[in-house]
Amino acid sequence: MTVRTICCIGAGYVGGPTMAVIADRCPQIQVTLVDLNAERIAAWNDADLGRLPVYEPGLADVVARCRGRNLHFTTEVDGAIAAADMVFLSVNTPTKRKGLGAGQASDLRWIEASARQVAAQARGHTIVVEKSTLPVRTAETIQAILSAAQQGTEGDTKSFSVLSNPEFLAEGTAISDLENPDRVLIGGDDPGSIDALAEIYSNWVNPERILRTNLWSSELSKLTANAFLAQRISSINAIGALCEATGADVKEVARAIGSDSRLGSKFLAAGPGFGGSCFRKDILNLVYLCRHYGLEPAAQYWEQVVELNSWQQQRIARLVVSRLFGTVSGKRLAVLGFAFKADTNDTRESPAISICRDLLEEGAHLAIHDPKVGVDQITSDLGQGASASGLGLADEGSWQPAASVLEAVEGADAVIVLTEWGQYAQLDWPAIAARMRRPAWLFDVRAVTDAEAARVAGLRVWLVGEG
Ligand code: NAD
Ligand code: UGA
Repeated sequence: MTVRTICCIGAGYVGGPTMAVIADRCPQIQVTLVDLNAERIAAWNDADLGRLPVYEPGLADVVARCRGRNLHFTTEVDGAIAAADMVFLSVNTPTKRKGLGAGQASDLRWIEASARQVAAQARGHTIVVEKSTLPVRTAETIQAILSAAQQGTEGDTKSFSVLSNPEFLAEGTAISDLENPDRVLIGGDDPGSIDALAEIYSNWVNPERILRTNLWSSELSKLTANAFLAQRISSINAIGALCEATGADVKEVARAIGSDSRLGSKFLAAGPGFGGSCFRKDILNLVYLCRHYGLEPAAQYWEQVVELNSWQQQRIARLVVSRLFGTVSGKRLAVLGFAFKADTNDTRESPAISICRDLLEEGAHLAIHDPKVGVDQITSDLGQGASASGLGLADEGSWQPAASVLEAVEGADAVIVLTEWGQYAQLDWPAIAARMRRPAWLFDVRAVTDAEAARVAGLRVWLVGEG
C-alpha cells in the first residue's frame, strides 16, 4: 500500500515538527495536522512565522515551504481522519494525577479518545501509528478499540493495522534530528503496513537506519532510551557533586570517561538536573511497569534516577542561599534562562521552575531573563504573577521579567545561569559587574559562561561540578 494522505492527531512539540518534515520530504503526500486546541491550530496557521506555537531552529523555514501545499493545520478532526490512509497518534501522555497508578503511570485518556475517534471516522483500510510515547502493550488497547469498530459496522469495509513508531527527536534540535535520524524504529506485526511506513521514511532516511521490531520491543525501546539518557545525567550530576566536595572538576572527569569509546562523550554535561516533558514521566512509567510485573528491585533502581534529579535541583537552591550569607530575603537575584534547555520555548519540568520556587520561598526577588519564554508562561509555572519592582526586605518572594541580561543584573547580588542559551557564553562581565551590588556572585549551573572573565571582573564564581 502506498500512502497518499496522512492525518496526525496532536499538533504539539512532536506532531508539528515531525509532520512538517514528512510533508517537506514527501511532496506527493498530503499531510493534515488536527488538534482540539483551536488557539494552537490558529498559531500554526499564523501568517507571521515568528508566532508558530513551537519554537525550533529551522522549523519556520520548513513550514513556510509546505504550508498550504501539502501541509495543513485544522480543528476539523473527523474529516481529516476519514480522508487518511495513515493516522498518527501524537497526543500528550502525561503522568496520571489521580486514581490507579497516580504519580507514575501514564494517563492514556487522550490516546484512548483519539483511538475511539479514529475507530468511528476512518474509512476503508487505515494504518494507525503510535507516535506518542506509550507504556509497553498499549497497542493492544488501541487494537481492541479499533477492532470493536470493525465488528460493529454492518456492510462497511473498515479495517485497521497498528504500528509503533516512537519519536526520538530532542527539542531544540528537532528539525535536524528528524532530517538526519540515528534510526527510525517501526514496530508491528503486519509486514505490508510496516513497509508502507518505511517507504515514507525512505524518501530521506537510509534504509539501513530503519529498524523493524515487534510492537512491544518498539514501545519498550522508547521508554528505555529515555531512561538510559536520563540515567547518564543523574550519574554525572552525582559525580559533579562529588567533584565539588573533593577538588576534582566534572568537565575533566567527563572528558576522561567520555574518551572511552564504550561510554562515549555525549550527555555528560552536569547541570541543574534534567527537565523536559518526557524524562521524568517516562522513567516513572517504567517504574510503574516494573512494579506491575512484580520486579521491585528494578523499579527502585530506576526510581533513584528521578530522586537524584530532584535532589540536584534542591541542592542548587540551598547552595545559592548558603553562599549569600544564609539569606536571600529581599535580595535581587538575576536568573538567566527559564526554558528546560537552550533553543526551545518549552518550560515543562524545567529545573528553573523548582529552583526559582525554592528561592521565592526564601523571600528572594528574582529578575528572570529568557530569550524565548514569555511572562505568561513564567507566571503559570511559578504560580504567581510578576511584581512591579519589589526590592526591599519584604518577606514574600517576588519576580519580574527582564528584557535583557543587563536589566536583570541591575542591583543584583547574584547571577544564576539555569539554561545554556548561546548568548550567555558571551556576556560582557565588566558591564555586568558594574551594575551589581558587591559582593557579587555568579552561580553558573550549566558551566557555560566565561567564568574567568567574571572572576577578573570581580565576581565570586561558583560553577557546577568544579571543586
Ligand atoms: P503536546 O502536549 O505538545 O501536544 C499534544 C497535542 O495533542 C496537544 O496540542 C493537544 O491539544 C492534542 N490533543 C490531545 N488529545 C487530542 C484529541 N483527542 N484530538 C486532537 N488533539 C488532541 O505534547 P508533545 O510534546 O507533542 O508530546 C506528544 C507525545 O510525544 C507524548 O507522548 C510525548 O511523550 C512524546 N514525545 C515528546 C517529545 C518532545 O520532545 N516533546 C519527544 C518524543 C516523544
Ligand atoms: C529527550 C531525548 O533526548 C529525546 O531523544 C526524546 O525523544 C525526548 O526526550 C522525548 O522523548 O521527549 P529532550 O527532553 O527534548 O529530548 O532534550 P534533551 O536534550 O534530552 O535534554 C533533556 C534534559 O537533560 C534537559 O533539561 C537538558 O538540559 C538536560 N541535559 C542534557 C543535561 O543536563 N546534561 C546533558 O549532558 C544533556
